[in-house]
Formats: sequence, C-alpha cells, structure tokens
Amino acid sequence: MKLLVTGGAGFIGSNFVHHVLREHPEDEVVVLDLLTYAGNLENLSELQVNPRFRFVKGDITDAEIVDSLVAQCDAVVHFAAESHVDRSIMDPAAFVRTNVLGTQVLLDAARRHGGRRFHHVSTDEVFGALGPDDAPFSEVTPYDPRSPYSASKAGSDHLVRAYFHTYDLPVTISNCSNNYGPYHFPEKLIPLAITNLLEGQNVPVYGDGKQVRDWLHVEDHCRAIDLVLRKGRIGETYCVGGNGERENIAIVRTLLGILGLGEDTIEYVKDRPGHDRRYAIDFSKIKRELGWEPSVTLDEGLRRTVEWFRTHEAWWKSVKSGAYRDYYGKQYGK
Ligand code: NAD
Ligand code: TYD
Repeated sequence: MKLLVTGGAGFIGSNFVHHVLREHPEDEVVVLDLLTYAGNLENLSELQVNPRFRFVKGDITDAEIVDSLVAQCDAVVHFAAESHVDRSIMDPAAFVRTNVLGTQVLLDAARRHGGRRFHHVSTDEVFGALGPDDAPFSEVTPYDPRSPYSASKAGSDHLVRAYFHTYDLPVTISNCSNNYGPYHFPEKLIPLAITNLLEGQNVPVYGDGKQVRDWLHVEDHCRAIDLVLRKGRIGETYCVGGNGERENIAIVRTLLGILGLGEDTIEYVKDRPGHDRRYAIDFSKIKRELGWEPSVTLDEGLRRTVEWFRTHEAWWKSVKSGAYRDYYGKQYGK
C-alpha cells in the first residue's frame, strides 16, 4: 500500500510512520504535515534516505495539495490535528480550522478519488469525563466533549461517519486514550515532567492531581491503528485503551521514583478550566475482533520513556529551546 499520513511529523504520526516502514517492507509512505510548533522533522530524520518515504510540507485545509497527494495514494491515515487541550482553551479557532475543516477537506479528496480508504485517528476525550465509579468509555458511549479540543475532534468524527453513510466512503475510526513514549512533545504531562526533572526544575501538577488518565504506550497505539487500517470492518469505530488508569500525581511519583528524586519537586498549580476528571477505555471490541491488546505495562513503558528522554537530550533540548523549528530550512533549503 501507498499511505498518505497526515501529521506524520508529530508525536504519534511519526511513531506510526516508523512502525509502518519497519513492519511492511512493501509499503510506501507520504507524509503531509504543516510543521506547526508540534511538527518536528527530526522525528523522521533517519528516514530521509529511505526510498519508500517522502515528506511534503503543507496544510490539510489546502484542497489543492491534499487533492494531488490523495490521488497518488491508496489510503489516508489521518493524524494531523491541533492536539493540546490547554492551547485549545487559549485559541479555539485553530482547532476548528485544522481538526474540523481540515478533516472535511481530506474526506472530500478521498471521495473524489473513487473512495480512498480513510482511517481517522481520534481520541477518547470526545466522550467527556467519567466519575470514579462509571463504566469505561466504549464504542456506544454518547459523545459529550467538554473542551474546544475534544469538541473539534468530535466534529471531525461525525464528519467521517457522515461520509461513510452519505457517500459510502470506506472509513474507520479509532478513539484512543492518552499516549506516551518517544517523540512526545514536552508540553504534555509525561514528557514535560521528565524533561523538567532532568533539567532540575519542578513539575506543575494541576489542581489536586487526582485526575485519572488511561495511559497507553505509543507503540501499542500504532499497532492498533495498523490493524484497524488493514483488518478493521469498514464503517466501524474501535476504542483503544491501555489498561493503564492512574492519577496524575501517581504518574509524577512513579517518574520521581525512576529518577531517584524527592517530592519537593512537585508544584501544585491552578487547575485547568473545565478539567475532565477521569478517562478510561473498554477495548474489548478491538480485542475480540482483531486480537489487539496493550503489550507494554505502564510501569515498564514509563521506565523505557524516561530512558528514551535520558538518551535523547539533544532532541528535547532543541524542542524546548525552539531550535527544532529551523530544521526544515536546513534540510530543504527553504
Ligand atoms: P501532535 O500535536 O504531536 O502532532 C500533530 C501533527 O499535526 C504535527 O506534526 C503538526 O505539525 C501537524 N499539523 C497540525 N495542523 C496541521 C495542518 N493544518 N496541516 C497539516 N499538518 C498539521 O499530536 P499527536 O499527539 O501526535 O496526536 C495525533 C493525533 O492523535 C491527533 O489527531 C490527536 O487528536 C490523536 N490522539 C492523540 C492522543 C495523545 O495522547 N496524544 C490520544 C488519542 C488520539
Ligand atoms: P495532557 O498531557 O495535557 O493530556 P490531556 O489533557 O489531553 O489528558 O494532560 C494529562 C493530565 O495531566 C491532565 O489531567 C492535565 C494534567 N497536567 C498537569 O497536571 N500538569 C501539566 O503541566 C500538564 C501539561 C498536564
């Protein structure tokens, strides 16, 4: 297959591109990415010499560029998005533009070119927030997004389903819980905590720190997307989760333990407005239909992730300093 991967220079997209090129020696990948603050070509640097890989800088809301790339590919795997809840509270417009309008532009191109296979990567945040005793989210949970980020992702999910029902576009959707692992942008909790601690700074914990997320190692997520893309039933949604529910404060304490540091580095700060209390996923459908389940336990994954950040100091220092933004110019002479 020749895949068009949108957002392939971001955290999960770049892990997915590495996964596909490693696991499917016949496949080719074209990445379309705007290289916003979250896109980093260094995540793909070792692929520059790979003849099965091509990078195109561009915006998913640009119908012309999207059309020409969709025409050349067999399937679209759609990661590109504005992805950070805190930023969506500051600037919702960027989220509606990329996440809703960008998805519609891609869907239109997929439809125009004879109904290209389309996999949409979404989030469990579209389902809202759970109380401590509520059953985990599943494919039948009603949508109840509560942040501009999750509302824009919910809008994109609805459009994907609408193109399936209205135009028979061969789509699938995956709604996944919080990821962590290599190339995770250090504005999100786990990479921010690790890199702050490695630099001798404190970790900001929002509110009481008792919010719960269901953490999944990014390699397990990539495996799930790959399976749904190749073997998932058309028109279906698959929930993907980590069996990894943990309070934020417990995540921070685990990281402190791995790094041999004390609790004096925890800094409780003002809570996020509308902060969702708990997310958790029931992944029994993808387990039953496609035989997928998480393979990396949270404790093992956190140990590996700390090790990755320890051994990739140049990567995260460049991201934190903003120097990574020059990479495209250096590589492509622009
Ligand atoms: P990310 O912010 O790390 O990467 C997003 C990528 O999209 C970046 O490379 C960015 O440059 C690119 N992009 C943004 N706007 C664009 C545009 N207009 N045109 C082209 N490219 C654009 O995000 P991530 O954490 O890797 O998430 C990827 C996808 O997975 C998103 O759709 C997100 O909603 C979903 N998701 C993320 C998580 C998580 O825990 N991070 C969990 C479940 C689902
Ligand atoms: P985040 O990584 O931003 O993912 P999401 O909001 O999409 O779940 O945040 C994970 C949890 O950690 C969330 O409950 C907010 C909290 N958090 C902090 O306590 N401190 C921080 O500095 C950040 C970025 C997040």
